[in-house]
Amino acid sequence: MEQKRIVVTALALLIGAFSSRAGASSSKCRYLPGDAKWPSAAAWAQLNHTVGGSLIAGRPLGRPCFEPGFDATECAAIKAEWTSLDTFLADPVNVMSPYWMNNSCNPFYGPSGACTLGNLAVYAIDVRNAQDAVAGVRFAQANNIRLTIKNTGHDFLGRSSGAGSLALWTHNIKDIAFFNYRGRDYAGPAARLGAGVQYSDLYPVASAHGLRVLGGSCPTVGVVGGFSQGGGHGPLSAKYGLGADQVLEWEVVTADGRHITASPSQNADLYWALRGGGAGNYAVVLSVTVKAYPDGPAAGAGFTFANEDENTYWAAVSAFLKHLLVLDTLDGYMSGFTLTAQQFALDFALLPDAEAADDVTGPLEPLFAELDALNVTLVSNRASLHPNFADWFDTWAKPIYYGTNDSVGGRLIPRAAVRDNLPALVAAFRDIAENSSAVGGSALNGVAVNVTEARVGSAAASGASAVLPAWREALFTLNFGIPLAEDASWETIRFGQRWINEKQDRLRAVTPGGGTYMSEATWDNPHWKEDYFGVNYEALRAVKAKYDPENLFWANAAVGSDASWEPAADGRLCSISGSTSH
Ligand SMILES: Cc1cc2nc3c(=O)[nH]c(=O)nc-3n(C[C@H](O)[C@H](O)[C@H](O)COP(=O)(O)OP(=O)(O)OC[C@H]3O[C@@H](n4cnc5c(N)ncnc54)[C@H](O)[C@@H]3O)c2cc1C
Ligand SMILES: *[C@@H]1O[C@H](CO)[C@@H](O)[C@H](O)[C@H]1NC(C)=O
Ligand SMILES: *[C@@H]1O[C@H](CO)[C@@H](O)[C@H](O)[C@H]1NC(C)=O
Ligand SMILES: *[C@@H]1O[C@H](CO)[C@@H](O)[C@H](O)[C@H]1NC(C)=O
Ligand SMILES: *[C@@H]1O[C@H](CO)[C@@H](O)[C@H](O)[C@H]1NC(C)=O
Ligand SMILES: *[C@@H]1O[C@H](CO)[C@@H](O)[C@H](O)[C@H]1NC(C)=O
Ligand SMILES: *[C@@H]1O[C@H](CO)[C@@H](O)[C@H](O)[C@H]1NC(C)=O
Repeated sequence: MEQKRIVVTALALLIGAFSSRAGASSSKCRYLPGDAKWPSAAAWAQLNHTVGGSLIAGRPLGRPCFEPGFDATECAAIKAEWTSLDTFLADPVNVMSPYWMNNSCNPFYGPSGACTLGNLAVYAIDVRNAQDAVAGVRFAQANNIRLTIKNTGHDFLGRSSGAGSLALWTHNIKDIAFFNYRGRDYAGPAARLGAGVQYSDLYPVASAHGLRVLGGSCPTVGVVGGFSQGGGHGPLSAKYGLGADQVLEWEVVTADGRHITASPSQNADLYWALRGGGAGNYAVVLSVTVKAYPDGPAAGAGFTFANEDENTYWAAVSAFLKHLLVLDTLDGYMSGFTLTAQQFALDFALLPDAEAADDVTGPLEPLFAELDALNVTLVSNRASLHPNFADWFDTWAKPIYYGTNDSVGGRLIPRAAVRDNLPALVAAFRDIAENSSAVGGSALNGVAVNVTEARVGSAAASGASAVLPAWREALFTLNFGIPLAEDASWETIRFGQRWINEKQDRLRAVTPGGGTYMSEATWDNPHWKEDYFGVNYEALRAVKAKYDPENLFWANAAVGSDASWEPAADGRLCSISGSTSH
């Protein structure tokens, strides 16, 4: 008996050794550096030549904090900026999320110990044009290696990194052009934006052209990635809709290396899927053309109140949430709020095309009366009128601080939950806010935007895009984060992730059918198919099968991801047994 077990174990070890070293001489797994079939230095040099010398070797940002080559000055600089988004925006492979960085070269862990790439790409192509993207796609395909696409590295789901991968890094495609577009469904001002454009690049330029474009509240998010492909909400969403609703056409490179346009009249199925069907899973985007709108004045308002008495505080929070049902009916009215166990903040309300600051505060008066009756004292209650959207943004949204040191979950909150089930909803919020001491405290962030067809027009009609239909029923999208210390252990990071998933389930129970904005969500939500894609899932699978039948593009919680590849313990992608495509 005992002997039999030893034999079986030895056999398993042998098979294990065989499949991980020559791994992948059967093409069931992607190759990793060190594998016999990993491309040779000469092959990489040839690729580098093909892309005009723009191949970059991935390097962990924390490298100067480790031996050999520890550099005290450089290390101090990298540590000082470790939680700043800026540290990661212009790097070809490093990403913001501590979960996906996974302490593989954490500068706070040096100078002894290991500094490895972990989940980061091994090489990146600094993509400048279609030929670069085609070369990358072909090289990954021909050499059986994992391909990833990175722009800014904001992604919470680890979709812009991947162990052993070649990354297509699109950050430097910064072209912005405004023009008058004429297409099947739209004629009017538009902007063609390179795949590296971030909203911080775009808002001021649009303003200089007398125009506005829809983008994120966070200025450094990229236009073409998880924002436009995943949904995308921002201050102007209550006027113009989601990021995906803005897209008139995509310029892409497909998995088989074709450089094509996806629009309502060309490759319409791909156009549809890219609008809301999830980031980095159908094609490499080189540029996007989005609607632009005439600019005009914008009014802003904000206030906070503190938790001085528990019952009063949560009654006041309930009053605010209920009042969102009124604000929901006002064309363009958006509010962004943050709530913890200690304090509520209306970070900003926006009313585009207002004539006076009173236009944005007037609709709040009935709420103020209610809060007054509850004896709630408003702090820093303020409002202002701005000549254009960019000026509003610089005053109200830009100063909000974002760090990289958190993990995030989320849920779309349907109008019905606030209208019909408010006490249960508030109890769930309270649970997250009050019961978060084990994870260092949690803040809940809401963005209330009416993105219904009645508000946005035909772009928001059911079936017009792959946007999760629950978005149209949502009163607001909620995300909640937990803070992570710079040197948090993997156990702590993993515990936090589990905690978030548990609280997501709690929210899920009181928001039936609510769904989740997939770009502010967990990669391991067990309900991801239903929550992130809903009724669109099967149709998206068909588009995926048509444009990427061999699953060159693969990402966590992406359509088809659970039926193609699975990461092994070392991050290597191996085909799901039973899958016949590899
Ligand atoms: C601090 C912070 C604030 C945020 N604020 C907002 C907000 O206000 N509104 C909002 O809607 N979301 C917000 N998000 C979520 C954000 O939209 C997602 O993280 C999104 O995935 C970021 O996309 P990116 O391209 O900037 O990032 P990346 O991490 O570089 O990429 C994200 C995904 O897009 C894919 N991708 C990138 N470039 C391309 C390309 N050229 N072709 C094909 N696929 C590509 C990647 O492969 C990956 O799957 C915020 C996130 C953070 C961290
Ligand atoms: C690619 O070529 C350029 C130009 O010759 C060189 O500077 C760069 O180091 C090369 N990249 C790699 C990964 O070798
Ligand atoms: C992170 O690292 C730990 C070990 O340090 C490993 O067990 C885990 O699988 C890694 N997770 C990810 C997502 O990289
Ligand atoms: C508010 O304060 C007033 C005066 O201090 C008091 O009479 C009233 O009962 C308070 N109302 C509530 C709801 O606490
Ligand atoms: C906090 O968690 C405890 C234990 O799970 C639970 O009994 C309590 O109801 C929670 N608090 C709130 C406000 O939900
Ligand atoms: C959304 O906006 C439209 C148009 O402004 C408005 O008629 C409607 O009442 C709002 N709310 C809902 C639930 O549709
Ligand atoms: C996250 O980073 C910010 C900015 O550096 C810092 O103020 C905050 O304390 C950090 N959070 C934790 C939990 O370390």
